[in-house]
Amino acid sequence: MFSFLLTSFLVLVFSTGNPLAAVTSYANDFVNPDYMLSRNYGNHTLAARKTITAWADQLNQSGPWSVLNKSATAKSGDKHDYMSWAPYWWPDCSKVGNTTVLAPEVVWTTCPYVARDGQFNPDARLVNDVGAFSDMSDAVFYDALTWAFQGNQGSTDYSRAAVRFLKIWFLDDETRMNPNLNYAQVIRGPGNQYGTHTGVLDLKCFTKIASAILIFRKGKTPDWTADLDNKMIAWANEYISWLETARLALEEGDAENNHGSFYYNQLAALKILVNDIDGARNVTDTYFAKQYQEQIEANGEQPLEAARTRPYHYRAYNLAAMITNARLAAYTSNAQIWSRRTRQGATIQNALDYAMTISASASKEQSYADELYPNVGAVGAIYGDSKGKYVTFLDGAEAGWKSEGWYLWNQPLAVPMDSIGTGYSQSGGARLYERTLGWLGALVVSVIVWSLG
Ligand SMILES: *[C@@H]1O[C@H](CO)[C@@H](O)[C@H](O)[C@H]1NC(C)=O
Ligand SMILES: *[C@@H]1O[C@H](CO)[C@@H](O)[C@H](O)[C@H]1NC(C)=O
Ligand SMILES: *[C@@H]1O[C@H](CO)[C@@H](O)[C@H](O)[C@H]1NC(C)=O
Ligand SMILES: *[C@@H]1O[C@H](CO)[C@@H](O)[C@H](O)[C@H]1NC(C)=O
Ligand SMILES: *[C@@H]1O[C@H](CO)[C@@H](O)[C@H](O)[C@H]1NC(C)=O
Repeated sequence: MFSFLLTSFLVLVFSTGNPLAAVTSYANDFVNPDYMLSRNYGNHTLAARKTITAWADQLNQSGPWSVLNKSATAKSGDKHDYMSWAPYWWPDCSKVGNTTVLAPEVVWTTCPYVARDGQFNPDARLVNDVGAFSDMSDAVFYDALTWAFQGNQGSTDYSRAAVRFLKIWFLDDETRMNPNLNYAQVIRGPGNQYGTHTGVLDLKCFTKIASAILIFRKGKTPDWTADLDNKMIAWANEYISWLETARLALEEGDAENNHGSFYYNQLAALKILVNDIDGARNVTDTYFAKQYQEQIEANGEQPLEAARTRPYHYRAYNLAAMITNARLAAYTSNAQIWSRRTRQGATIQNALDYAMTISASASKEQSYADELYPNVGAVGAIYGDSKGKYVTFLDGAEAGWKSEGWYLWNQPLAVPMDSIGTGYSQSGGARLYERTLGWLGALVVSVIVWSLG
């Protein structure tokens, strides 16, 4: 009994400072560069910062990334064209005239492909520009955050790593991606091998890249030179023009569900990146006047996501996109967007509150449970948590949730009582006070139990 208590007490004392092991790629987010550069986020976010740095270090091992890395080439014949294969499409070779095994390349081009919503076809990742872009944007994002909270002074390993990754993906002549998604989420089979509008989703994490570049630009790291900034702006302007004129992009911009929400994430972040703040504001205004209006019902349900095969995942996913659109709007001085209501009178907070009432296991989605937690943190930080509802939920959901990367940029998350049962404060002094109370409490209990038994 005593050793059990001693162990729990040691865990209690030492567990708060350990970073989480596996790199987490959040569905999406935009982090205000001014907040990061203020470095005014309190010592209680130290564990979250350690996590972010550990993730940056891990991702650094697998970079750099380039669209030139893939073994296949798009139908254009240009390897600089981004390409991915539609993930939920499966071959039906029953009518191809041979029921025995066909070579993969034959399947890819001759068997008609049919959709099975929500079911990943693993061989779609044999062409993995989408995974490469996701890893690259996370690496750049976590590098930039680390560079900011380590003191944003000059050139460091983290700014150099991020700038190298950005140059190789977007800017260097030998390795750059062309600024279009004409071959994103190609449906394989005997069709035209052209992309589909759902593929525009592949670059949704441009918000993370925009966050990172703004941090470097505003924080003035010498690694992000004026020349690189100008080249990146030129690239982004070409891609913006693709997003605003290409048929695939316009179709995605009309999508009513999360695809539409994420389209606006990308476009608004890109406009901020090219210093077109009015344009970015216009983009988010359009989203909140259009798709958003039908995305949340009066009770907080998101009907278009609830209808999908993985409703828990899709509710959390679209929440991340809605929150990101609102953060981007707020960055363009439109913070009142957080209280914007849908046609049925609901807010983003209502959608989160409703999603929190539904267990991931109700639809056998336990493995997606933690996708909701960053949204819980964001809503708690933005709308306030005076009754401790969101913190209580997180305490019950995930041990050590304050070590999650997102905890850093969702501050202050007003906490009346933390897991040790003491007062919340942002200051390191109060944190020490909390820890000491927890330490003394555990010691007292241990001594009592020891003296009894
Ligand atoms: C991907 O391409 C980059 C740039 O050419 C290269 O440095 C990197 O080693 C490649 N990665 C892999 C896994 O081939
Ligand atoms: C059917 O597939 C097998 C294995 O790939 C091949 O050996 C055979 O020639 C094919 N038959 C026809 C009629 O295509
Ligand atoms: C990333 O890896 C490169 C070489 O592989 C190394 O020079 C650099 O210091 C690393 N950066 C970080 C932030 O670990
Ligand atoms: C605002 O967006 C609309 C399309 O939604 C576009 O027609 C208009 O030109 C945009 N205005 C500005 C200033 O970007
Ligand atoms: C926060 O931690 C740093 C070192 O990690 C320390 O220098 C600083 O004094 C602490 N701030 C407060 C308010 O305790």
